[in-house]
Amino acid sequence: MCGIVGYIGNHNSKEILLKGLEKLEYRGYDSAGIAVKNESGVHIFKEKGRIADLRSIVDENVDGHIGIGHTRWATHGVPSKLNSHPHQSTSGRFILVHNGVIENYELLKRDYLTDVSFISETDTEVIVQLIEKFVGEGLEVLEAFRKTLSLLHGSYALALLDAKGDDTIYVAKNKSPLLVGLGQDFNVVASDAMAMLQVTDEYLELMDKEIVIVTKNEVAIQKLNGEAVQRNSFKAKLDASDIEKGTYPFYMLKEIDEQPLVIRKIIQTYQNEQGNLTIDKNILDAVNLADRIYIIAAGTSYNAGLVGKQLLESVAKIPVEVHIASEFGYNMPLLSAKPLFVFISQSGETADSRGVLVHVKELGYPTLTLTNVPGSTLSREADYTLLLHAGPEIAVASTKAYTAQIAVIAILAEVAAKRKGIEVNFDLIHELGIAANAMEVLCDSKEIIEIMAREFLTGTPNCFFIGRGVDYYVCLEGSLKLKEISYIQAEGFAGGELKHGTIALIEKGTPIVALATQKSVNLSIRGNVKEVVSRGANPCIISMKGLNMDEDSLVIPEVHELLTPLVSVVPLQLLAYYAAIQRGCDVDKPRNLAKSVTVE
Ligand code: AGP
Ligand code: GLU
Repeated sequence: MCGIVGYIGNHNSKEILLKGLEKLEYRGYDSAGIAVKNESGVHIFKEKGRIADLRSIVDENVDGHIGIGHTRWATHGVPSKLNSHPHQSTSGRFILVHNGVIENYELLKRDYLTDVSFISETDTEVIVQLIEKFVGEGLEVLEAFRKTLSLLHGSYALALLDAKGDDTIYVAKNKSPLLVGLGQDFNVVASDAMAMLQVTDEYLELMDKEIVIVTKNEVAIQKLNGEAVQRNSFKAKLDASDIEKGTYPFYMLKEIDEQPLVIRKIIQTYQNEQGNLTIDKNILDAVNLADRIYIIAAGTSYNAGLVGKQLLESVAKIPVEVHIASEFGYNMPLLSAKPLFVFISQSGETADSRGVLVHVKELGYPTLTLTNVPGSTLSREADYTLLLHAGPEIAVASTKAYTAQIAVIAILAEVAAKRKGIEVNFDLIHELGIAANAMEVLCDSKEIIEIMAREFLTGTPNCFFIGRGVDYYVCLEGSLKLKEISYIQAEGFAGGELKHGTIALIEKGTPIVALATQKSVNLSIRGNVKEVVSRGANPCIISMKGLNMDEDSLVIPEVHELLTPLVSVVPLQLLAYYAAIQRGCDVDKPRNLAKSVTVE
């Protein structure tokens, strides 16, 4: 969610900051700003809208060797130039960018800042005004920063400039992600390594409630109480070409196309020298010791968790519950005696999931994170991590992470089953390979799916997706994809459920996408299609070879029944993509959405 960049060194910072912000665009934002400091002071530029809009108002003649930048995803106050960051203290001395939410900002205003006139509606402005207040009362800047942080409740990643003081960027974080990048005669700050890969691949992780004093030649990490912290840097293993679009018009299309490759990479990565699938022994022990697995996730990762439940239960015979992260916190089910918590998160930064992780760790339960981002918060804080190896996912709408999550859970289920002595009567490597080939066939069927999108979705205000069993779970994902990027109201339902209410919404021409990939329910789902067709619906049936019938719109190649979600989701992703394109939507950056949702 939103992003921060900072630069301090010998070069001019303006272009580095703007390029960095462009690399963070994928995270979702509604306004942006930069501040650069030079001999004549600090110069601030901010604008509502895209980085391109910000660029157009940045004074070409102004630059400086120190600067900070921000993309804002509004939480307090409308998206506007006034509310966008950087924010300044009343005298103009302190300049701050902030990601996150300060929960007690109103209280802080009342207790400390009644004499301050606030310019913006944000919670952020309280932080910069508090720093100014404490400096006014005689504290050194670092002490004022420290005192302010000790008063904040909530989440923050912060970068602060002092217009009057030394050339320093003051940095702090709690819950929201932030890294410091190291260079020769310069240092940088970034929400993720991608933003500053243009200048360095060496980074320092920051932990919650740490302060960092960043100068051109030094980076000093401290705890909130001032105690110095030593930490080794790490190399960001990102290939710059991974984060380019290449010839694709949108990242989403590139990422859909990458899926067969990702599945093959996962097979390779999780294979040992003997050619068998393998998982860290400690993880297997944790899985096999558990009497129940609790999967915690949000959005697409939650949808992948539902498919994961099916795989773990049918292959490894372990009972699984899947929970929406934001619900779990206050609606905790009765837990089994020996639970294992599994967090599924592409970004590894989702605040809702992290909230649960912190809580269950306090209760002493074992935790495993499945994530695409090594070193992410959920990975660092869980006992164990399984990586998705999907490569950076830039489009807000998750595609390749979803299929990677399912593939990794399938491997976990198979290896755990074998270790428990449960017979697995299929060769998963072989079946995943077949699924990857089938995904490729569908990626090559774009023209057909583009026509389907035109035929079924043009001008429609809504669309329903129906399926039974695991197809239902894929319908939930297909409808999420469609609604988030095309803004067509879309809902996924269990096939038998429409007639219990939603069928009232079916009118002449209402599109119904039905999945039919499961033999045991093929006839029942087709019966459900008949029910809606006789009320005027326009059906788009996607079936699997062997179960197909004349009226079907698309037939996907045959794959193992447990792995059909890997394949059946591809046409749904492409339907959503083309529907969005046909409506002129910004596919990679849908309105109101952020890539990593780092606020609760
Ligand atoms: C996916 O298309 C969404 N943008 C969103 O639902 C996402 O899956 C959710 O926010 C969870 O993110 P995570 O996997 O990074 O935890
Ligand atoms: N809460 C702050 C605001 O609304 C920061 C939001 C963000 O993380 O971008 O301005």
